[in-house]
Amino acid sequence: MTLAVLYLAAFALPGLTAASEQRLRQACETCRGISERFGKGLTDTAKKNFGGGNTAWEEKTLSKYESSEIRLVEIIENLCDGSNFECNNMVEEHEEHIETWWFKWKKKHPDLFKWLCIETIEVCCPAGTHGPDCIACRGGSERPCHGNGRCDGDGTRSGDGSCSCKNEYTGEFCLDCSDGYYNSYRNDTHSICTACHDSCKTCTGATNTDCKECKEGWIRNEDACVDVDECAVEDSPCKTDQYCLNTDGSYSCKACDPSCLECTGEGSSRCKSCTSGYEMKDEKCTDVDECVLSEKLCARENEDCINTPGGYKCACAEGFQDSDGVCIPTVKHEEETPVNVSSRNAHEDL
Ligand SMILES: *[C@@H]1O[C@H](CO)[C@@H](O)[C@H](O)[C@H]1NC(C)=O
Ligand SMILES: *[C@@H]1O[C@H](CO)[C@@H](O)[C@H](O)[C@H]1NC(C)=O
Repeated sequence: MTLAVLYLAAFALPGLTAASEQRLRQACETCRGISERFGKGLTDTAKKNFGGGNTAWEEKTLSKYESSEIRLVEIIENLCDGSNFECNNMVEEHEEHIETWWFKWKKKHPDLFKWLCIETIEVCCPAGTHGPDCIACRGGSERPCHGNGRCDGDGTRSGDGSCSCKNEYTGEFCLDCSDGYYNSYRNDTHSICTACHDSCKTCTGATNTDCKECKEGWIRNEDACVDVDECAVEDSPCKTDQYCLNTDGSYSCKACDPSCLECTGEGSSRCKSCTSGYEMKDEKCTDVDECVLSEKLCARENEDCINTPGGYKCACAEGFQDSDGVCIPTVKHEEETPVNVSSRNAHEDL
């Protein structure tokens, strides 16, 4: 029987737990919101009722108002947004507590959040503590997780007090360093983790000689991790019309100059061979001027050859225009010259 119950509990509880944990967190959140709105209500009603004068009558009336039921009701009315079910529910359920505090405990316990949420309706815990009995977070309530992480359930009646460490930290108490970081300061309660040198996967200090393991793209040379030159190999890792550029810990492939078929670097002077329309001249791929070749490339009458980068164009000579593949003299349309608009307007303006 006992075993069966345990067996069931082991499977049924995780889901239930998550939902009820969520409710516990939500309850504390709601109560915190109510306390904050109460504080705001105090400020707002204080402003509203100070007219500026200070006659004896006003002072008497004000001090009466200050802790009056009227003021309390005014504040309570504004504690929740109309649509906030959780909030309205909590205020309704604990209105008597709020009244008791207002008339009886406000002077002695001015912190409503502490009095109401932590001590009276017990939905929150003091900072640095967690769970049904508000026990200390891992690493102690003063500096939960030693200041390097977040404590599960911190300040609420939920959670198990375990630590979720910031990126740089790890371990149950967030005192150890994650891969890529080393302890630049450490004692029993304080730990500072600092980034390793770029070349290290793990390290004991700040430089590339302090690596325990080299990062990918880096290799051990003597006692340091140094960059691997991925481009120094016979077979380039890049495509044929690209050159390889070594970088720290890696490399990249860059497009060759348009004049190169293959290249070793940037620009036309780093070509290994030229694309068509270019020729190697003075150790550079240079544009071939097709128009000066002995063979006449633009053969039509009244046609010019125009050299372009890597090629050439044929076009009718000046004073001629293309008409069905023949270059004919350009026709002048003198009768179509536009009316002299500017001069006409000038006369009208006068
Ligand atoms: C640990 O270091 C912190 C910060 O320097 C210091 O305040 C604390 O007293 C140290 N604790 C011990 C046990 O030395
Ligand atoms: C157009 O008007 C300007 C200014 O009045 C004049 O100088 C010019 O000769 C005129 N051009 C023609 C084509 O009539």
